[in-house]
Amino acid sequence: MDVRTCEINLNHWYVVAQSIEVTNKPIEVRLWYHSIVLYRDSKGKIHGLDNRCPHRQVKLSEGKVVENSLECAYHGWQFDSKGVCTFIPYLLDNQVLPNCKISAYPVKECYGFIWIYLGSQQILGLQKIEPIRIPEWEQLNYINTISVIDCQAHFSFLIENLMDMYHGHLHNDYQAWTEAKLKTLTTDEEKVKVIYEAKSYYKIDKIWSISQLFFTQFRSLHPEPLIVTYYYPHWRSTLGEDFTLYCLFCPISLTHTKAYLVHFTSLNTFRRLHKLPRWFRQFIKDKLSGTAQSMLDGLVKQDIIMIEQEQQAYTQQVLKPTYEINPTISAVQRMIKKQVEQQE
Ligand code: FES
Ligand SMILES: [Fe+2]
Repeated sequence: MDVRTCEINLNHWYVVAQSIEVTNKPIEVRLWYHSIVLYRDSKGKIHGLDNRCPHRQVKLSEGKVVENSLECAYHGWQFDSKGVCTFIPYLLDNQVLPNCKISAYPVKECYGFIWIYLGSQQILGLQKIEPIRIPEWEQLNYINTISVIDCQAHFSFLIENLMDMYHGHLHNDYQAWTEAKLKTLTTDEEKVKVIYEAKSYYKIDKIWSISQLFFTQFRSLHPEPLIVTYYYPHWRSTLGEDFTLYCLFCPISLTHTKAYLVHFTSLNTFRRLHKLPRWFRQFIKDKLSGTAQSMLDGLVKQDIIMIEQEQQAYTQQVLKPTYEINPTISAVQRMIKKQVEQQE
């Protein structure tokens, strides 16, 4: 089995959009060769249907939401949230509605994202599969920044990039850490966990520490553990106590991967801040969100160039070998293959 042509295990929740992107105006999202239309009904609940009107196969995302149904733009047929055709404006008295149900997918809205499950309903129910937990999202002590990754490459190239901390070499000034050294690598059924010893440039211990993001002279190197974990199909990393980073995957095809990087800076060390009223802490959280944007976007841009070149090299000359000395990479590849086999 070639990892670069591995499918995804559909029996997991994948992220397809940010919550703020979904309104009562339908939008198209894509996940592993599926086009899905998302919309919010009058109660604010989000639904995800196959994005094809069964009448003439046009996209339902061109249509609009009428009360709790989705109305196709072309001839006005309507579908409820289960995908059942409920209304045709020109149906004659002697005609009945056609039996042309479209697929409705399980959807969850949590941690500021929309999650879709395309896999087996039976497994979902039996194994109680849930999205990866992101507790920092709700906590007032964490400031978040989100960057979108959209690359023309197989998802394995992206997760290998995220697990191989020796690629800090690429990022120079953008990177929060340096001198990574692999200490331990452990794997089990669901995850690959790697602990690197590294040196961090940042220490969030003063109220003005955030200025380290902009002024390099305020940074000083100190040792911190760098822990990266592949919780298939998503990824989480921590740098000491101060930073947590998630990568939430949305593989679109064998050569196209979208993902969301979610970065959290912890304010846990500011004891006095915790005594302030909730509304004020929420205000600070909202005001500071996005502080790491240019750093995160800068990192993403550099990574995408490398990842897409790897894909191009693979596509053009499949037979040329690559040489790898970080054992993390083969552990990641084994996990990707195992997950596909599990599904079969
Ligand atoms: S194509 Fe959708 S109603 Fe005709
Ligand atoms: Fe990177």
